[in-house]
Amino acid sequence: MISYKYPIFPNKITQWMLAENLDACRWLYNRLLQDLNEAKEKGIKLKTYDTQNLIPSLKLENPKLNQVYSKVLQMVNYSDASFGDDVGSRALQDAAVHTSINKRVVDIMLPRVILHNAVSLDGRIDGFPMDLQQYYELISIWKEDATLAGSHTFLKAASVAPPEDESAFVPPKMDPGDKRAILVIPDSRGRIRTWHYLRTLPYWRHFVALCSKSTPGDYLEYLKQRHIDCIITGEDHVDLRTALEELYSRYAVKVVRVDSGGTLNGLLLRQGLVNEVSVLIYPSLVGGETTSSIFRAPDLPAAAGAAPGQGAEGTISLKLMKTEKLRGDVMFLRYEVRR
Ligand SMILES: NC(=O)c1ccc[n+]([C@@H]2O[C@H](COP(=O)([O-])OP(=O)(O)OC[C@H]3O[C@@H](n4cnc5c(N)ncnc54)[C@H](OP(=O)(O)O)[C@@H]3O)[C@@H](O)[C@H]2O)c1
Repeated sequence: MISYKYPIFPNKITQWMLAENLDACRWLYNRLLQDLNEAKEKGIKLKTYDTQNLIPSLKLENPKLNQVYSKVLQMVNYSDASFGDDVGSRALQDAAVHTSINKRVVDIMLPRVILHNAVSLDGRIDGFPMDLQQYYELISIWKEDATLAGSHTFLKAASVAPPEDESAFVPPKMDPGDKRAILVIPDSRGRIRTWHYLRTLPYWRHFVALCSKSTPGDYLEYLKQRHIDCIITGEDHVDLRTALEELYSRYAVKVVRVDSGGTLNGLLLRQGLVNEVSVLIYPSLVGGETTSSIFRAPDLPAAAGAAPGQGAEGTISLKLMKTEKLRGDVMFLRYEVRR
């Protein structure tokens, strides 16, 4: 039998897609191996056929498996069943190599993400007098390509939006010289119906709604009719990492400034997607038990045997990059997230 070998020269996008596929396979391999080992401990011997039947339910747990051709997933299952022999250990080595390739490529394909918030001295984001002019004057520092904003803030704006007229259905004019940012809003419930108003504001040149597979179809139609771009990713809520990757590849978004409250900040921070945390600390103390902070996320488990004053595992460590005193006794602090 004659065999031929051809080199391939994938571009960045194809490299990224290959790495995504490999990462999904690696995840499946490790997951099936874990199931096999757990079954073995209980004295149950799973056959290749049994583990293959697990794949459809694992697709719900990790939707990235849906992007991989099903025969490939079955081959992963085959190598898993052979764990311990040459095929299995080779697959394990391949997985390790591909993980490092994947991380390198994906890091290149993610925009730099900056959280910028005004906070009271006790870390609250609402309930104190704020100098909005000063807050927005500073944002030119980052030369952002996109503003990522939480939907709640824009739902509040609904009361000031005028009713729609026919201009809402006119395709936007694209000006390649327009350097303004894109406004991006995660809205998996399809609740923002004020895009016609947002389009009239002078701050953004283009608009993207982030939706998920659970977003109502009539909302996707609403967006389409109004020429509002849409990225659909994630099952129930938006998959923020994939959405950032899409912003990078579709719109060349290299810098994202996040203008949101603690929930969206918290999700991005916990998923390791944030590069910089910038805060304007106001000389106010708000207090309260329900007031929100800039970082809302589930409690971290206390580190086992940790001494008082030590952080819990998962605490995000920051490096101070800049301090400046601004008008009104406001302190401007910029931190880089340590990786
Ligand atoms: N002081 C400041 O600097 C500052 C700045 C901005 C905002 N704020 C305040 O913050 C408050 C709320 O802010 P906000 O609306 O900007 O954002 P938020 O409450 O922090 O987050 C809401 C956003 O997170 C998304 N989200 C929720 N759960 C998610 C999940 N599991 N996966 C992916 N996405 C998820 C939501 O999308 P779905 O709709 O899809 O769930 C929504 O777009 C407001 O009171 C505002 O005044 C303060």
